[in-house]
Amino acid sequence: MKRLLTGLQASGTLHIGNYFGVLKPFVELSSEYESFLMVADYHALTSLHNADVLRCNTIEVVKDYLAVGVDPTRAVIFKQSDVPEHTELAWIFDCLVTVPFLMQAHAYKDKVAKGLEANAGLFTYPMLMAADILLYDTDIVPVGADQRQHVEYAREAAMKFNNAFGATFKEPQEKVLESVSIVPGVDGKKMSKSYGNTIPLFGTKDEIAKAVMSVVTDSGMTRDEAVAKEIETGKVVIRTVPYAQNLFNIHKHFRPGKYDELFDLYMTHENNYKALKEALIEDIESLVAPMRSLRDAITDDDVRSILADGAARARANASKKIADIRAKVGVTI
Ligand code: ADP
Ligand code: TRP
Repeated sequence: MKRLLTGLQASGTLHIGNYFGVLKPFVELSSEYESFLMVADYHALTSLHNADVLRCNTIEVVKDYLAVGVDPTRAVIFKQSDVPEHTELAWIFDCLVTVPFLMQAHAYKDKVAKGLEANAGLFTYPMLMAADILLYDTDIVPVGADQRQHVEYAREAAMKFNNAFGATFKEPQEKVLESVSIVPGVDGKKMSKSYGNTIPLFGTKDEIAKAVMSVVTDSGMTRDEAVAKEIETGKVVIRTVPYAQNLFNIHKHFRPGKYDELFDLYMTHENNYKALKEALIEDIESLVAPMRSLRDAITDDDVRSILADGAARARANASKKIADIRAKVGVTI
């Protein structure tokens, strides 16, 4: 059976971009694969230096995983720091790649571009992620579009190791759902917790409603201008609403396969943003309410026991792999 692996950082509350970009595809694919779902707590440490918050985030993320339908008896749910082979292999990769190569990584480049100081962990972040993926001979990595580069880095690390020490790692492939690619946030930019523009996945109905009501509807163009632009560029291949595109582009994820129906709703309620936003809140609520009640029934102790089981199952794989790696680089004598 082929292997599927992905992870999310324990750096904050998950949002609907995380859900449609990663978690939903993971759940859908996981019946066909041997699946691993990780909480990247050491990755979170590159930006979060508060032990209580990290502990709390870790537990919450696992609850989210369970609530969206990941079955812990099938998928291995584990936390990165429970499998020390990850940081060990990351070090080995760090010794194979060059500084200019790591300087091209988005996470690091973006931080520096903003004039912020990047710690060394952020700089070598892609090699820890490469270790996460390659330790398990992963075939497929479901991620959002912004993580594509990091999976390329994992392929590079695999290649560099294989060239130096002999065939050891297979090259993983990212799985970015083109239909999702990037879920926009309430301000129209990519939804991201670092931009403060999210719709929380498991917020209360009020929190979700507040976020939806703040979605920007003005695309900066009048309807006539938008239609004229579409005709001019010949871009009417997929029918797209000529106004409130940001709202529509969030909304469409909640009505999969019902694009035409949603399109008609937007055309009949043209410029009645309140009605459209209320429809979106209802659509979010019908998806989230059942998951929310499932989530409420999960205790912290349930999470601890699932993570303990996951750690044992993950380590059983990782320790075998690292034994081969250690022998190949020459640290076993
Ligand atoms: P954030 O940008 O909020 O910090 P993360 O970087 O923790 O999110 O991303 C976790 C996963 O969710 C990654 O695989 C990422 O590609 C995916 N993801 C994050 N935001 C979006 C989005 N707006 N649309 C689609 N996928 C997303
Ligand atoms: N870097 C990913 C993110 O920010 C999280 C992550 C860590 C990951 N290790 C991974 C994703 C391994 C996929 C595979 O979203």
